[in-house]
Amino acid sequence: MASEVIVARKRACEEALKRVVELKPRIMGIGTGSTVELFVEVLSKRRENLRETAYVCSSLHTCHILSEKGFTVLHLGSTTSIDVYVDGADEVDSELNMIKGGGAAATLEKILAYGSKYRIYVIDYTKLVKKLGEKHAIPVEVLPEALGIVLTRLRMLGLNISIRTLTSGKYGFVMSDTRGVIIDVKPPNWWSPRDLEKVIRSIPGVVETGLFIDLADEVFVGYPDRVEVLRKPRKNNFRAEEF
Ligand code: A5P
Repeated sequence: MASEVIVARKRACEEALKRVVELKPRIMGIGTGSTVELFVEVLSKRRENLRETAYVCSSLHTCHILSEKGFTVLHLGSTTSIDVYVDGADEVDSELNMIKGGGAAATLEKILAYGSKYRIYVIDYTKLVKKLGEKHAIPVEVLPEALGIVLTRLRMLGLNISIRTLTSGKYGFVMSDTRGVIIDVKPPNWWSPRDLEKVIRSIPGVVETGLFIDLADEVFVGYPDRVEVLRKPRKNNFRAEEF
């Protein structure tokens, strides 16, 4: 990764942390990925500001990093509501819709985002796109038992797909923390995020997709020399407190 991109991400993490401190979360959700790792680094240097906060995570990897640094980590399954969620993203469009799941953690990330009162994403400037799918395929998590049937259906829909495969450490498919197989779907020209999400989610055996629609409140975009904050009008957002 280019050093200016790392600088940009770090700046964005620092600004995002300032926002988190203002929000004083009791329970905070943390996503997965290299940006999140940077965020946890920044967080661990300023931990005195969030002494009472406990954490829930979207992957064993993030839970491990936090617990190694001495943070209190809760089990997601026994967490009923999350005050603030912080995560990275692969692509973000002007409506703050996103593609996520490059780290195969989109299912738990979506659960955390859905259950959080405030969702903050941290990206660098290279991740802003005009249309989702410009640079990344859409991850689709599938139950192993449904793999063949789901593949057939996706092919019938004319979608260009590939099963995500490990490049080292084990031979074969990437399995998520929720034990799903990840299929990467290249978005077709005709698609709109909402339509594609609807079509793919209607196939039995599909657990989740990496399309995150209306799940962001703020996006901190890091540039080498500054940070811009993108906000979505509150009325369009689902809020956990509105259950
Ligand atoms: C993890 O499954 C993803 O959703 C990540 O949040 C996303 O891929 C961004 O990752 P990086 O911060 O590593 O670019």
